Amino acid sequence: MVALTLPANSRIKDGKTWPVSGEKPKNLKRFKVYRWNSDDGGNPQVDTYEVNLDECGPMVLDALIKIKNEIDPTLTFRRSCREGVCGSCAMNIDGTNTLACTLNLEEVEGDVKIYPLPHMPVVKDLVPDLTHAYAQLESIEPWLKTSTPAPERERLQSPEDREKLDGLWECILCFCCTTSCPSYWWNGERYLGPAILLQAYRWIADTRDEFTGERLDQLEDPFRLYRCHTIMNCTRTCPKHLNPAKAIAEIKKRMVERKG
Ligand code: SF4
Ligand code: SF4
Ligand code: FES
Repeated sequence: MVALTLPANSRIKDGKTWPVSGEKPKNLKRFKVYRWNSDDGGNPQVDTYEVNLDECGPMVLDALIKIKNEIDPTLTFRRSCREGVCGSCAMNIDGTNTLACTLNLEEVEGDVKIYPLPHMPVVKDLVPDLTHAYAQLESIEPWLKTSTPAPERERLQSPEDREKLDGLWECILCFCCTTSCPSYWWNGERYLGPAILLQAYRWIADTRDEFTGERLDQLEDPFRLYRCHTIMNCTRTCPKHLNPAKAIAEIKKRMVERKG
């Protein structure tokens, strides 16, 4: 029988605790945060930070910014917009992939456990390496492709055709869905995953695009598209309430329809 053991450095150790100074405040919350630094060669660890919520903004991201500004400047995470439109603060909070800037602290009971998006290489602490995911995005050519000459002003679209893009254009490429998809965990090298497939469908559904056939040809592959087994984790986790599983089903439907 094959004995499977994890490498020593994959074990997560208990790390440092950063208590509040003086008397414990009434509204105290503990944040248990994944820490790992490729430079020091050590194991990942979970540090515990105590935060007085009476002196903190309402969202999980507010607490992380407070920790970085006032307690531990080495804590590393990505963020930009602070209002759920850039996708950069995606992380795993209390077991769910979501955006730290839109999750209210009142929604988390007990200690707040914060990890990077799962099954991605980690650059440092809460920052996943998205190089492969962005290369996959590039592979589906996420821009309007046309062969007919450009009209004088712009390529028009009826309101009905424009509506076909609703539920697709809102995607902020946070990869919460992709990193919650078991098929992507095991086949991510070749399977495109829900975020990229939703993006692919966004251009397939666009009536102004003139390369629909070529786009479908690109996806007609046992790995790139057909590793989706409709497990639906992607749709359950999307912080923008989009439905990537439906977009994938629409691509599969188009594949069947074009075969007539
Ligand atoms: S529906 Fe498809 S893409 Fe979504 S989690 Fe399941 S396998 Fe992954
Ligand atoms: S579909 Fe939702 S979860 Fe997936 S990348 Fe887009 S916004 Fe994020
Ligand atoms: S900081 Fe932009 S989505 Fe959270």
